[in-house]
Amino acid sequence: MTRKTPKEMPPAKPAAAVAGGLPVAVLGGSGYVARELVRILLGHPAFRLSALLSRSAAGKPLGEVHPELAGVRDLTCSAVSPEALPEKPAFLFSALPHGVSMSHIAKFWEAFPETKVVDLSADFRLPPDTYGKTYGHAHEAPALCERFAWGTAEWLPEWKHSPAAYATPGCFTTAVSLALAPLSARRWLDGDVAAFGVTGSTGSGASPSQTTHHPERAESFRAYGLSGHRHEPEMVRNTESVAGRSSHARPSQRWHLRFTPHSAPMTRGIFAHIQAVLPEGVGPKDVDEAMEESYKGKPFIRLLGAHSPEVRSVTGTNFAEIGWAASASEGGGRSVARVLCAIDNLVKGAAGQAIQVANRMAGLDERVGLIPGFEYDL
Ligand SMILES: NC(=O)c1ccc[n+]([C@@H]2O[C@H](COP(=O)([O-])OP(=O)(O)OC[C@H]3O[C@@H](n4cnc5c(N)ncnc54)[C@H](OP(=O)(O)O)[C@@H]3O)[C@@H](O)[C@H]2O)c1
Repeated sequence: MTRKTPKEMPPAKPAAAVAGGLPVAVLGGSGYVARELVRILLGHPAFRLSALLSRSAAGKPLGEVHPELAGVRDLTCSAVSPEALPEKPAFLFSALPHGVSMSHIAKFWEAFPETKVVDLSADFRLPPDTYGKTYGHAHEAPALCERFAWGTAEWLPEWKHSPAAYATPGCFTTAVSLALAPLSARRWLDGDVAAFGVTGSTGSGASPSQTTHHPERAESFRAYGLSGHRHEPEMVRNTESVAGRSSHARPSQRWHLRFTPHSAPMTRGIFAHIQAVLPEGVGPKDVDEAMEESYKGKPFIRLLGAHSPEVRSVTGTNFAEIGWAASASEGGGRSVARVLCAIDNLVKGAAGQAIQVANRMAGLDERVGLIPGFEYDL
């Protein structure tokens, strides 16, 4: 099984040129995800970073907040207020914590109702009632939820009119649902499905806590969230949405996700490992076909066949690596599929995927600004 690389993908479709680039504002400016958004936006040929909004760094130059970007662009962080924006943004990316993002988005939308919003927090990924049960507080802007499309960027529909807003999935959800999607598309998920997720320390953001602080994690490895993790509902919703769009005729799936997160001594990366007992009669060749069919023409997916993905191979990129093996000799005669997925949590699991979606919302090829050296017409 050889790797699929972007070279083998069809050429980019030309999109409308945007004079000077579409103005983009980013909320949560000093955070880890905002830093990746800024890094990608500064190299994006069709989007122009017009404002970086920050509660803690308003008035500070970009290079002071994110030193690796010093000297790249003369930009001063703005206060978190619509009045602080130098111009109407075409896109607003929110990289604020969950529970905080929704009220800020509501406020900015009042001032700029035509601005397209991409929220990277968990605030608009679930219906308001499920959100309340999952996060332990009521949703503060339930009326806005219906404006948001959601789901992993690999299965965006062909939009006639792009949505006003998009809620991108979390990093664990991206990796787990990319692994499960080909099985879900064929409605093969049945009974308990085990998912193991491993995260690096940037997955918890810039503010250290007892368990995320580097000396606590370095040279150690632990599981957490053993009685259920709050990302399970969005993993299930994402995975089920693939079955809903599938043309494969099989009965509905009855399955339960058992997700266990682990904390690894690395700074970046997510590694997901799912195991699912397949329906009778489904074997290794069927799984090969399902994986190939599901990810045909998907430029950010590298299929590795029966090889393990590596976190290091996707670090700093918007690629996901997926490996798998299905054996007929386990599970009492039924075949068991193991699917593995590695992504960078801050890029494919957050900022890169958000730009991938925004590209599509702006009518651009999804690869624009995300693959160095990739040629496209604007
Ligand atoms: N880290 C990941 O791997 C990852 C992956 C997928 C999705 N996400 C989601 O992306 C969002 C940002 O994550 P992150 O890792 O960048 O977190 P982070 O490093 O903690 O950054 C969040 C930023 O939001 C601002 N902020 C924090 N608390 C606030 C409050 N109470 N009110 C207003 N602003 C506040 C701060 O920026 P300013 O002081 O500059 O305003 C802070 O730096 C979160 O919703 C997270 O769940 C993260």
